[in-house]
Formats: sequence, structure tokens, C-alpha cells
Amino acid sequence: MDKIIIQGGKPLIGEIEVSGAKNAALPILAATLLSGGEHLLKGIPGVKDVSTIQRLLRKMGAQIKEQDGVLSVRIQKIENCEAPYQWVKTMRAAILVLGPLLARCGEAQVSLPGGCAIGARPIQLHLSALEKMGATVKIEHGIIHAKSSRLKGANIYFDISTVTGTENIMMAATLAEGTTVLENAACEPEVIDLAQFLIACGARIDGAGTDRITIEGVRSLSGGSYRVMPDRIEAGTFMIAAAITKGDLAIRSCRPDTLVSVIEKLRTAGATVTEGREMLRIKGGEIHAVDIKTSPYPGWPTDMQAQFMALMSLSDGLSVVTETIFEQRFNHVAELRRMGAQIRLEGNHAVIRGVPSLSGAPVMASDLRASASLILAGLVAQGETEILRIYHLDRGYHRIEEKLSGVGAAIRRVKGSG
Ligand code: EPU
Repeated sequence: MDKIIIQGGKPLIGEIEVSGAKNAALPILAATLLSGGEHLLKGIPGVKDVSTIQRLLRKMGAQIKEQDGVLSVRIQKIENCEAPYQWVKTMRAAILVLGPLLARCGEAQVSLPGGCAIGARPIQLHLSALEKMGATVKIEHGIIHAKSSRLKGANIYFDISTVTGTENIMMAATLAEGTTVLENAACEPEVIDLAQFLIACGARIDGAGTDRITIEGVRSLSGGSYRVMPDRIEAGTFMIAAAITKGDLAIRSCRPDTLVSVIEKLRTAGATVTEGREMLRIKGGEIHAVDIKTSPYPGWPTDMQAQFMALMSLSDGLSVVTETIFEQRFNHVAELRRMGAQIRLEGNHAVIRGVPSLSGAPVMASDLRASASLILAGLVAQGETEILRIYHLDRGYHRIEEKLSGVGAAIRRVKGSG
């Protein structure tokens, strides 16, 4: 296992490029199961989760080629409709194949994801929506067996706003008979990106990006060409890298309109943020204490909570971070404390008393965004920080150490030693 070593204390200065969004690329790749046509996709990020879903699609019969940054995916015939445990346990987002498989083949067997490092993460809302659309769903030996003749359009109300739930059902509904209406649908930009890709393939979808999405089913979809949106969480992570090191970064190829809550809170926390066309410039200043509370889009993203906590560890006062989406998403706290952060947990609140400096230490990454938080802390800590188990990081950040060293960080990966 690789590890990352950082010598802290260097302000990050220069230009840094954002990759395509992991959480848009994953559902878009799953959606290629819906038709036999050729899909040409740009902006697919080179992260581990993306290669995992590509391997899964190949097992199902996909032909995938890459040339000059364009990924061609064609699944002329689905050879098997199974996503066994080995895939789902490495990547929960494999559940995204359930809706498309059922819609195209009339059956699917997908291993039931268990809990993960950040919470229980049930998927009953995906399953009950498919049942409402006429599918029979049984769980046996940890595997979801779903069957249906052509799915039927239905009115579906999600009790809780669920991102992959909305995506799964939106995909399934594109080929259903009649109209499906999703109420309390997730409004995340990645849901819009998936809808736009599906529309490019011939789907009839209205309202993506609002909490009411209407999908009029069609008989079949074609292939489509699409560029995946930039990763707003990677961009936000770079914004905090500039703020925490009191640096000055121009963040290229990003979408400031998808980062409004992050931009506003970082301004309140003392950074100067200038928005341009597909770029952001952020200059760090004195770090002020600010409270955040995670909530569905357009609120503060739970995927940016751990990174913000690293910043608040160095603020001039007391801040409260409240996590409302996942019940165990505070794994980074114990590691940040090892670096000298003063953080107290009270239920789903973290109370952070800013300290003047952090000190480098060996720390352990426990999930994707926790790893990013430790990198951010390491960039500014005194001395050396060694981050172990960075395979979590590779699931969602493309060559982050190369990108950060390009703007002045003293960061390197040591192969096979973490
Ligand atoms: N929930 C249920 N029942 C369900 C589905 C969800 O109770 O059937 C609950 C969850 O337990 C959670 C809340 O609803 O408390 C929201 O979960 P959601 O379903 O929206 O999460 P997800 O779709 O599994 C996606 C991202 C996550 C991101 C969350 C929240 C992908 C592939 N994953 O997960 O990304 O944190 O939305 O925004 O899009 C990450 O990239 O690090 C990551 C974890």
C-alpha cells in the first residue's frame, strides 16, 4: 500500500486543474447499460472508483476503449446481469447498475451493500421505488434479486433526499412504460449531469436540478456524446488548500455555480475568492471561525465537511461543524487531534477550538474525504506528516499529490509502504 509524505508549511501558489466529477462519471457510466449504442464520454476522471465500474461493465459485456481523452463505451448485448459482492464491497456506487439493468434486461442481481466507514447507508428507497414501478424485489443471501417485465411509470416520493437513489430510479424510468414523477428528488448538480447525458441519448426528462423530476419513458435509447461536469468536491478541496496554507490558487476547469455555499463560507472564514468563467481564484487570509452544517445541495456538502474541519482547526476562535447526512462521518477527528487539533465531539456536532499551528504526525486515512482532510492538515502542519492507507484517496482524487506539488507543496507518494 502506498503512503503520502508531506513537509508542511509551504503556501500553495499557481494554477491547478480540476478533473471530471467522480460522482457524475459513475452514474453516467452505469447509464451506458441502458442502450446498445456507442457512447463517447469526455472528462471521465482517472480515479479508482471509475476503473472499478469500468471493470464491472466489462464483465457485463461492455467494450470500452480510450483514445485522446475520449472514452468509448458500447454494451451491444448484456452478457450477465450480476454485480456480485466483490464489486459492491469495493464500491457502493455499484448499486447504480441496478436500475439500468432492470430496465434493459428485465432482471438484475446486485449484492446488497453493507454499511461503510461513514454510516449504515441503507438503500431501501431505491428498492421500494422499483417495486412501485412493478418490479419484484427479493433479498436472498445478501443479494438483491430484482425482476420485472417492462417497468411502469409511477409517482414516487423519496422520504429522504437520496442522490444515487434519485439517479437509479431516473435511469430505470427512462425505459419504463408511461410517466414517472420523482418527488423530493435530489437536486445535486451530478443528478443534472446524468439527466443531460440521458437526454443526449434520447431520454425525456424534465425538472432535473429541482425536487420534482418528470421522466416520460421511451422504448429505447441511443448512444450519446457527453462531457462530464468538473468535480466540485475536488475544486472545493483545492480552495481549502489555498485558504489553509494562506496561498493564492487559480483553480481551472471548475464550475463556481456549483460551489456557492463553499465560496460564501470560505469568504466568511477570511479568504478572498474571485469567480471567473470556469475558474476561481482564492487567496488565503487570517482564518476566522465559522460554523457549518451539512445538508443536501445547495447546502454545505457532506463531502466537504472533513476538509473544512481541517481549516477550522487553525481558526481564530470556536466553530461548530454539524453533520446531518451521515451518522459516522467524523473519522478524521481522532487523526486531526493527533496533529494537535482541539476538537470535541457531541453527537453529530464537532466543536473546534482553533489552535495557532498543527504538528506533523503519522496518521491513518479511513475514508475518501477524511484522507483529503489529513492532506490539507499536513500541508500546513509543522514538520512531516505521513498519511497511511491512501487507497481511500485514490478512489476519488486523480493524482492529487502531483497536482499539489505543481503549486508548491512538498508532497510525495511512497510506493508500497503504507
Ligand atoms: N438514505 C436512506 N435510505 C436510502 C438511501 C439513502 O436512508 O435508501 C440516507 C443515507 O443513509 C444518508 C442520506 O439518505 O443518510 C443521503 O444519502 P444518499 O443516498 O444521498 O448518498 P449516496 O447516494 O449513497 C452520494 C455520493 C456520496 C455523497 C452523498 C451525499 C455518489 C456515488 N456518492 O452517496 O459521495 O456523500 O451522495 O451527498 O454519488 C464521496 O464522494 O465521498 C461520497 C461518499
